[in-house]
Amino acid sequence: MQILVTGGAGYIGSHTVVELLEAGHEVVVIDNLCNGSREALRRVERITGKPVHFVECDIRDREGLDAVFSEHAIDAVIHFAGLKAVGESVGKPLAYYENNVHGTLVLCQAMEAAGVRRMVFSSSATVYGSEAPVPYVETTSRGTTSNPYGTSKAMVEKVLEDLVVADERWSVAVLRYFNPIGAHPSGLIGEDPQGIPNNLMPYIAQVAVGRLDELTIFGNDYPTVDGTCERDYLHVVDLAVGHLKALKALEWRGVRTYNMGTGKAVSVLDMVKSFSRVTGVEVPYSFGERRGGDLTECWADASKAAQELGWSAEKGLDEMMADTWRWQSANPQGFAE
Ligand code: NAD
Ligand code: WQD
Repeated sequence: MQILVTGGAGYIGSHTVVELLEAGHEVVVIDNLCNGSREALRRVERITGKPVHFVECDIRDREGLDAVFSEHAIDAVIHFAGLKAVGESVGKPLAYYENNVHGTLVLCQAMEAAGVRRMVFSSSATVYGSEAPVPYVETTSRGTTSNPYGTSKAMVEKVLEDLVVADERWSVAVLRYFNPIGAHPSGLIGEDPQGIPNNLMPYIAQVAVGRLDELTIFGNDYPTVDGTCERDYLHVVDLAVGHLKALKALEWRGVRTYNMGTGKAVSVLDMVKSFSRVTGVEVPYSFGERRGGDLTECWADASKAAQELGWSAEKGLDEMMADTWRWQSANPQGFAE
């Protein structure tokens, strides 16, 4: 198939492009490079030995999208493009709704005009909100999200649900990611956040490589085994494979929603200890205040994806740590080297 990948120069997108090419698909990537890099795509070509057709294009640019659809016989779209910094979204709600919601509307309009009605969409476990019982299961309704980023994902889910009611030719897979971490085992591509990382894994990796002095663990008085928060971390390559499984299964009419997680929760402290055990590198840390908006614990009921897509996360925590370190130690400054 010929697949259009929006946001394919970013973290999860670039790993998914590798899996698509290795499975024999042709790939067209569009990205405005606001948080992605051309170098990531050059490295995807090195890993796979196959070309990536790249078009620098914003998903809000209808003319640009129309040109891409008219030049390529696209069969389906995997839609990663979006802004994703939770904290930033609180200060810039308009930018987040404009980019993530309006951008998706323009993309869907261009798809409709081109007669392409198959989409895999990157959503987030954050749409369950803070009140949902764990493990999160897809039958639980979306909850109240505490920031514009999360709300933008919930809004897009609703838009897609309404779209398939109006036109039953649409076939959409909504994938709700838990906490993707790790890197391609080649060490050539990985997560490369701009500025100080917001997320735990890249923060640990940057302390380990000497870019940052020390990790602050946000709170050690939560009602968990060791007092630190628990999350469901999954390997980014497993997540990429999940997109291929969803794409392959996209024969249904309507929207189907799947959790993408391992079904297991790991504490922040255990993440730090596992990293040091696997890599042999100590990560200095201290305990700080709780971070506003953090949930005590969050993990997936991952059984629906296993039953319906035949997908389960296969890589364990040690592999996530080893692959993160292979990437970070070989590329201390990320793609900027
Ligand atoms: P990323 O920032 O590395 O990748 C997103 C890519 O989209 C970037 O390359 C960026 O340049 C591009 N982009 C942003 N706005 C665009 C626009 N208007 N037009 C064209 N390109 C645009 O992020 P990621 O971690 O790879 O996340 C991919 C998707 O998965 C995002 O939609 C994100 O919200 C979602 N998601 C990520 C996580 C996570 O923890 N990383 C969790 C749940 C959901
Ligand atoms: C994990 C744990 C922190 C940094 C976020 C988004 C979510 C999704 C994934 C997109 C928490 C702790 C972190 C640090 C720390 N993204 N931590 N010190 O918060 O589960 O989810 O990313 O959809 O929407 O909210 O992930 O990696 O930020 O934090 O102690 O310097 O690590 O408090 O307990 P989170 P995270």
